[in-house]
Amino acid sequence: METVDRRDTPRGELVLRRDPDTGRYEIISNGTFLMDTSDGRSERLLITAALDAAPAPYRVLIGGLGVGFSLNQAVTDPRPTAVTVLEREPAVVDWQRAHLAPFSGHALDDPRVRVVVDDLVTWAGTATGEYDAICLDIDNGPEWTVVDSNAALYTVDGLTALRRLLSPRGVLAVWSAAAAPTFRQRLAELYGSVAVHEIPVPRGEPDVVYLATRS
Ligand SMILES: C[S@@+](CC[C@H](N)C(=O)[O-])C[C@H]1O[C@@H](n2cnc3c(N)ncnc32)[C@H](O)[C@@H]1O
Repeated sequence: METVDRRDTPRGELVLRRDPDTGRYEIISNGTFLMDTSDGRSERLLITAALDAAPAPYRVLIGGLGVGFSLNQAVTDPRPTAVTVLEREPAVVDWQRAHLAPFSGHALDDPRVRVVVDDLVTWAGTATGEYDAICLDIDNGPEWTVVDSNAALYTVDGLTALRRLLSPRGVLAVWSAAAAPTFRQRLAELYGSVAVHEIPVPRGEPDVVYLATRS
């Protein structure tokens, strides 16, 4: 792997690497794998499952830009009328423009797309606006966060803040690399029923998408 760029952030080192043989990119956070460009099926399902359950006019909020697979799914689907992407790391947005645009289908140039560089956890507490689908993929999962401060998003307070941003019958979709039973229970208590989609991966536990509708 070759290092394409390396940035120091308040949360540690962020590195973009590329395999010169395959053209595959990966993002490494403090030495730990965050995301790569090899698959993206479950990151896409996060969006399609939410849109299938959400009401028109399909105003979408995506938490976490990553390499852009989820965003690509949102802009290639004809339904969304507006797509807001919350991304904490300016480097990830820079890399999307400079290196990773093919993986989002150059979505940052789409007039429906707005990128907000901010911490979703604090942003959600004060944000205004209304979304028909909120699609979150900022962690390995609600019970396996990449930084401790992200855990607040999956508490009763965090989920209540997100609920406030949903339109009536709006949908919250949460990606997880592993089953998160305690989170699922909490979500069901706040939102009513929860649908669960499992996506097989080549090795290990399936990826999971949790879907809850604002009642
Ligand atoms: C696993 S990646 C997202 C992958 C994305 N679904 C895709 O299709 O490529 C997680 C992203 O969330 C961002 N992130 C992590 N914590 C965040 C937070 N609190 N607020 C906003 N973005 C955050 C990371 O910088 C990273 O870009």
